Parts: sequence; C-alpha cells; structure tokens
Amino acid sequence: MTTTTIDPGLDLFAEIDRLKRERRAVILAHYYQDPDIQDIADHLGDSLDLARTAQRETEAEVILFCGVHFMAETAKILNPDRIVLLPDANAGCSLAEACPADQLRAFRREHPDHFVVTYINCSAATKAESDLICTSSNAEKMLRAVPEGRPILFAPDRNLGAWLARRVGREMDLWPGTCQVHVTFSERKILALKAQHPDAEFIAHPECEPHVLRHADFVGSTRRLLERVRDGAARTFIVGTESGILHTMRLAAPAKELIPAPVEQGAGCTACSECPHMKLNTLEKIYLALRDLQPRIELDEELRVRAARPLLRMLELS
Ligand code: 13P
Ligand code: SF4
Repeated sequence: MTTTTIDPGLDLFAEIDRLKRERRAVILAHYYQDPDIQDIADHLGDSLDLARTAQRETEAEVILFCGVHFMAETAKILNPDRIVLLPDANAGCSLAEACPADQLRAFRREHPDHFVVTYINCSAATKAESDLICTSSNAEKMLRAVPEGRPILFAPDRNLGAWLARRVGREMDLWPGTCQVHVTFSERKILALKAQHPDAEFIAHPECEPHVLRHADFVGSTRRLLERVRDGAARTFIVGTESGILHTMRLAAPAKELIPAPVEQGAGCTACSECPHMKLNTLEKIYLALRDLQPRIELDEELRVRAARPLLRMLELS
C-alpha cells in the first residue's frame, strides 16, 4: 500500500537523486516551478522547449514532469511507451479548463471552414479537435503557416490570440479563455512603478490583458523574457509573468534588478503573481512520485493518436 508519510529526517535531494537513477528517470521542469524544483531538473524550459525535450527523450524509462497536467499529457502523447509522472495530479490550468473538447467539437460543427489553432495549454482531447497546436514561443510562425483565406479560430487564450492577431495582421475568432495568473496584473500599479523606475523595461507574457500589454516594452514567452533579461541593455526589469521565473532570471543575470509586476489587491500574493496549479508540486511529492511511480498520465490510444497529429505538425514546423 502507498504511504504518503515521509520521514522528516530524509534528505529529499539525495533521495530524489537516488530514485532518479534507480528508476532511469528524467526530470523536466517549467520556469514557474519553485526554485528547488527548477534546481533539480535535468531540463528546465518553456512549454516549447519541454515538448521538444520530451520528443527527443530516448534514454529514460520514466519522465517526471514538474509542471501542470497538460504539459505532462503532452509528454505522454509523444512517449506512449514511457511512464510519465506528474507529482500532483490536480495541477490544472485555467486555460485548459476554459476549452473542453466537446465545446470545441460543437464549434467545428457550426464552423466547418475554420482552421483551429490551439494553444498547447489544453487537454489531449481538445488537441485532438485542433488542426495545429502552438506555444507562445512559436505561435506567430504557426499562424503564418495557416492557408490564406481560411478563417481562423484561436483557442483558448483570448489575450494571446488578440496580441497575435495584431502581430500577424490577420483577423481571428478568439475563444474566451484566460490565464487566471496573467490577468491579475494591475495596470495602475505598473504605471506607478514605471514612473518610479523610468529606466526600467517592462517585459510581459502575451497571456496578460491588452490594457497591460500596451505598456510593455517587450512581449514574449517565458524563454524570450529570460533571454531579454540576460541579453538586454536595461539594468532594471519589471517582470510581467509568473514569479517562479525570477529565480532563473536572477541566476542568468545576477547584476540586473528584477521587480515582479504587481497584481491587483487580493489576487495571488500581495506583491507578485503565483500560479496555484504550478505551485502544487513539491519536493515531497516528487520523491513520492519517483518512489511509487504514481500519479501516472494514462491516455486512450485512439485519442493519443488524434492528439499527436496537430502536435507533431507543430513540432515539424517549429
Ligand atoms: P510558456 O513557457 O510557453 O511561455 O508558457 C507560459 C505558461 O503560462 C505555461 O503555463
Ligand atoms: Fe495555466 Fe496560467 Fe498557470 Fe500557466 S500560469 S499553468 S497558463 S493558469
């Protein structure tokens, strides 16, 4: 029987390392994970990097995915014969929840001409109803690959979709989903911070609301934001994305001043923005997942094959 009590004297770092070798496991982690988890990862990255790593992974028997459910599910779509673990099976995503597969199927029935581009932040069942998947790193490129003249539905992030529509100069129908974390940033407080730090660059993830994005000096995926902090000329950055990434930004650019973009009162923590789903994963749960090889991601094979099609198309085009 599985026991969830852990000896408090256990050295979790050493135990995770031992179990990782014993299980021939690899740990993939997103930038929004807690610093300790980012530090023990074999591969740290944005959604696209992690999907690519999962596709390339040939050695490991077990993939432990430190992120949220749709990310681990994506790894399973690409690795049907490996065990894929998610430390907390309840780590969801408000975007994935906003676009259930049956609703997308109903849209397709009513709009048979539409080409459906779906953000990777969705379930395998929703991917299976899509023509092409994208991440925030490659979305522009994916949209430019859509045949001219075809109407487009972009799902499920209406903010990312609106930003992309402006970038590629193409009208799109937008599914009404949002990221519960990125919609909490306060335009008023960001403007006050910018006034206090006139030389600071405000960088933001495209999941933020348009009224916040219009003040951004730079917009990009988590990896692009990290590269901007590392390579950009500014000394101070106001960072408009989930605060977990500040850990890796500080390591990459120790001389730069990083200020988490403030959120409206009552949303997230008082000074910064945390994803409650990402933060469900802990070192304890990672240890238990490796010890018990649970919770596993399981997928019906027929669904997996249908979900793999638009995902593989994205990886080929990227
Ligand atoms: P990226 O890492 O692709 O920028 O995605 C951000 C995000 O919200 C993941 O859940
Ligand atoms: Fe989903 Fe937003 Fe959390 Fe990313 S940060 S997992 S988009 S709720």
